[in-house]
Amino acid sequence: CGIIGYVGVEDALPILRDGLSNLEYRGYDSAGIALGGGSVDVYKRKGELSALKEILPQKSTTTTGIGHTRWSTHGEPTDANAHPHTDESGDVAVVHNGIIENYDELKTELEERGHTFTSETDTEVVPHLIEEELATGRDLVDAVSAVVERLSGNFALCVVAAGHEGIVATRQGNPLVMGHTDDGTFLASDVPAFVEHTRRVSYPEAGDVIHVTDGEATVYADGERVSRDVVEVDWDAEAAEKGGYEHYMLKEIHEQPTALRQTISGRIDEMNGEADLELDLPTEYLNSLEEVQFVACGTSYHAGLYAAKLFEEYADVRASAEIASEYEFDGGRDPWRTLVVAVTQSGETADTLSALQRAKRAGAKTLAVTNTLGSTVTREVEDTVFIRAGPEIGVAATKTFCSQVATLALLTVYVGRQRGTVSSSEARELLSDLRGLPGAVQQVLDREEQVRVAAEEYVDGDAFFFIGRRLGAPVALEGALKLKEISYDHAEGFPSGELKHGPLALVTPETPVLAVLTEGTNAEETLNNVKEVESRGAPVIGCVSEGMDDAGKFVDEVFEVPELGELEPLVANVYFQLFSYHVANLKGRSIDKPRNLAKSVTVE
Ligand code: G6P
Repeated sequence: CGIIGYVGVEDALPILRDGLSNLEYRGYDSAGIALGGGSVDVYKRKGELSALKEILPQKSTTTTGIGHTRWSTHGEPTDANAHPHTDESGDVAVVHNGIIENYDELKTELEERGHTFTSETDTEVVPHLIEEELATGRDLVDAVSAVVERLSGNFALCVVAAGHEGIVATRQGNPLVMGHTDDGTFLASDVPAFVEHTRRVSYPEAGDVIHVTDGEATVYADGERVSRDVVEVDWDAEAAEKGGYEHYMLKEIHEQPTALRQTISGRIDEMNGEADLELDLPTEYLNSLEEVQFVACGTSYHAGLYAAKLFEEYADVRASAEIASEYEFDGGRDPWRTLVVAVTQSGETADTLSALQRAKRAGAKTLAVTNTLGSTVTREVEDTVFIRAGPEIGVAATKTFCSQVATLALLTVYVGRQRGTVSSSEARELLSDLRGLPGAVQQVLDREEQVRVAAEEYVDGDAFFFIGRRLGAPVALEGALKLKEISYDHAEGFPSGELKHGPLALVTPETPVLAVLTEGTNAEETLNNVKEVESRGAPVIGCVSEGMDDAGKFVDEVFEVPELGELEPLVANVYFQLFSYHVANLKGRSIDKPRNLAKSVTVE
């Protein structure tokens, strides 16, 4: 989601409207504005920003306001679920980015005290809580500070209230930047929201509460006034939209730790070894399961392959990934005992939707794992789990793959625990790896320079081969897909053992081989294949677990993977993303929009 706030001397309305246009890439399923400065007036609408513009007045008389463009995580895109959210009186309006993990219990508590809710969002608890604090005579800064104490999760908020001056905002993990002009202050989730007005920015820290009044911004940390340095950014509007990165794809690769935090937020109960996905699959049904099929295309198919292996191990059920365009519901399957999971980031892929139709016609139970609330797939299935990665603009999927696998790992724990096939201690181990995932991915991102240099060294390869076993096999396929999509080089991925059954004929000193040598990939066996290619002169890059120093001795370049059990191959994949990106970038390819490809393919 994108949020914006402005307090200054100019009419706030056109500033907020333009700011939202600049933030539309962060979410576009609904939008809204609350004008503050004395009274509070809210305008909001489902759909793209153009729908909101139809109901907005041309100008206003206030110089204070907040706005929001939404990418849904809780509740479908509807007028009611659009931000800003208010209390019953409409005197407190809130825009919010991120997830409030404990909203359910807060909502119940508020309902018991007589509050009524009009949306399905997690956000709506906030204005009600603020209203209660204001009623005790607190000012808006104290009220917001007190409410924030009660919220868990990562989020950023901007609040206006009738009878209170300016905007109060806070950043608890999610991004929030301030822009400063001589006579005004902007608040936004990202610089492009206001870059045409100012490039002087400051970055509040996690936990800060900010009060923006006429031309002045006061920042509080733990109740004390603090100051945050103002710096000048030299981005133009286009670069700002990419967060200063050269391409959306690179930005999205770097967003993975944040995306993953959102994916797992509020879903891990490590103490009890449980995953909470708000799913309603009866235990009796899950116990009767004979088979799980993941139907998907492209990158999502690779996420399905990864998940199928996890399911067989932890949920003790036959599981497979099926290429959607090849899918038939046949082979004597019992529909009642078959769970068909459509994995699709867009929720609109025609091949996947038609495979789903086939499964439904046969009578199978269906589930979707997607990034897009309100997408077609969510209307076709019995239940949906959202991956919450945020919008992905680069055609080549990166952060959605990572969040898909993480979500499917949570689903594995959920099903395994319901079926009683995984003990709480085993589940706890996988859940603790999931918790460690954002940090481990960050460690890889911190080593990007090493990958860039390696890309420079191998950029002229005739072809690239990716190999791995077990959980390393889908990652090898995904690595090769990424490289071929964006660099147009010939790249192939396969399970390492298959090398000697054909592809070895293509291996020469001019064909770099990239191998997954981590936990969860039978690395010892892949090392034999590494030796086979090395004896043919091929250079080898190995993604090697920190704990496996020996493996490192056999490869030309080691990409070190932090220890993370069964999720290490997923972390290794981040190296492959970066490698593909840098090879393509050195070749000057059209990285965000590769030739002949589309982000979402809605024809069969
Ligand atoms: C297209 C995209 C791929 C994507 C595939 C499946 O081919 O270019 O990046 O993996 O569709 O998309 P979905 O939205 O179903 O995950």
